[in-house]
This record gives sequence, C-alpha cells and structure tokens, in this order.
Amino acid sequence: MNVSIELAQLQHAYPQCPPVLQDFNLTLSGGELIGVTGASGSGKSTLLNIAGGILKPDAGRVTLNGIDIFGMKERPFEKFKLANIGYIFQRFNLIPFLNVLDNIMLPVTLLKADRRQYKQEALRLLESLNMEHKAKSPVAELSGGEQQRVAIARAFIMSPGVLLADEPTGSLDYDNTIQFMELLLALVKQKKVSCILVTHDREVANYCDRVIHLGKDERRSPA
Ligand SMILES: Nc1ncnc2c1ncn2[C@@H]1O[C@H](COP(=O)(O)OP(=O)(O)O)[C@@H](O)[C@H]1O
Ligand SMILES: [Mg+2]
Repeated sequence: MNVSIELAQLQHAYPQCPPVLQDFNLTLSGGELIGVTGASGSGKSTLLNIAGGILKPDAGRVTLNGIDIFGMKERPFEKFKLANIGYIFQRFNLIPFLNVLDNIMLPVTLLKADRRQYKQEALRLLESLNMEHKAKSPVAELSGGEQQRVAIARAFIMSPGVLLADEPTGSLDYDNTIQFMELLLALVKQKKVSCILVTHDREVANYCDRVIHLGKDERRSPA
C-alpha cells in the first residue's frame, strides 16, 4: 500500500478549555509505526480522532496520499474512512453477538463490498494471527488477548493505508501485550501501513520506530 499521512499545523481546543493541540505536525510513510505518549488529558485521543477524520480540527490539514480528508463531501468521506483507515481501541469494541468472522467482515458489510473476496482475506489474516480455528466462535467466548487479535484483523480487512490504535494493549496482560505488538508490527511492516499508536507502556513504545511525547510534562524526552 505504502500510503503516507501528513498532519499539518493542527490546532484544536474544546469549548471553554485551553488548547489541546497547537501547531502539531507529523508525517508518516507506509510501514512506519509511530508511538504517541503523554499524560492523561494531554490530547492523545484527540490527535487520533483528528487523524482518523472523526473530529475536525479548528485549523490545519490531514492529508492521506495527497488527499485533504476534511475537504471531502460527507457521503464519500464516510466510505473513504471505512476503506482507508483502520482503528483499534483499548476495549476491543467487537460486536458480542457476532462470531469472529462476522466481526472482521463488518467494514465489508458496511461498504457492501464483495464478501467472497474479503472472506478469503479474513481467513488469511486469522491464520497470520494464529486464530484460524476460532473463525466461527462467538467473540464473547474469547479471551481479551484473542478479542484484540480479532480487532487487528478487522482493522486490516480493507487493506487500509492508515492504522490508528488508541491504547490497544491497555486491557491486556504482559504476555498478551507482547504477542499483540509482535503481530501488529509484523502486519504493519508487511502491509506497509502508516500506524499511529497511543500508549502508556514503555515496553510497547519500544516497538515503535519513533515516539512522540505530548503535553507539558517533558521529563521523558521523545526518542
Ligand atoms: N468532547 C470533549 N469535550 C470537551 N473536552 C474534551 C473532550 N474530549 C476531550 N476533552 C478534553 O481535552 C483534553 C484532551 O483529551 P484527550 O485527547 O482525550 O486526552 P488523552 O487521550 O491524552 O487522555 C482533556 O483535558 C479532556 O478533558
Ligand atoms: Mg485517550
């Protein structure tokens, strides 16, 4: 894929609050994994939501392969996001009454894309995540580590250029954190996805190509 994403001169403040982002700039190319750290409330989720087109910044641009995403019309923008941006959250955010395969296929369903083609891709992803034997299991019956691996597959199903992960290991124990990061890193590099990953965990930050620290607390300098 090798998609680049550029965040340029971002500014954002919530009403009646001091600014969260002021002149924030970041450029990533395909296959790059960038870690974002910072104290609670420093604006990490705000940054991801802007990068993912969920929140429009007060000023600045988000450019994906040269396309200014906030310049798009609403309908094509919603489709564009589903097809080009994958999200992984701390609490997995899977649909509990659907099985593993149907959860992974959710973006395919929403985009009305060719199910047969993407089902093959879903099964390949499950295989690379050592989960192929769980394809038909209800997600409610999976462990946390397994659920987060299903979330990886769902995030990758449309072959997005950009992957955004908001504290994705925050609900995992140590062993599952390591396994998650190894699998995520392998897919990011193999599929040349531009990934921004928010984390509190130094161990997780060590997997990143670069680490950016947000906020006033500069005791930990960016790597
Ligand atoms: N929807 C919102 N309305 C008002 N203030 C918000 C909203 N979302 C976040 N904030 C505030 O903006 C700041 C940054 O929040 P956030 O981006 O969630 O930080 P982080 O993810 O680093 O913990 C915090 O002070 C938070 O309270
Ligand atoms: Mg947050």
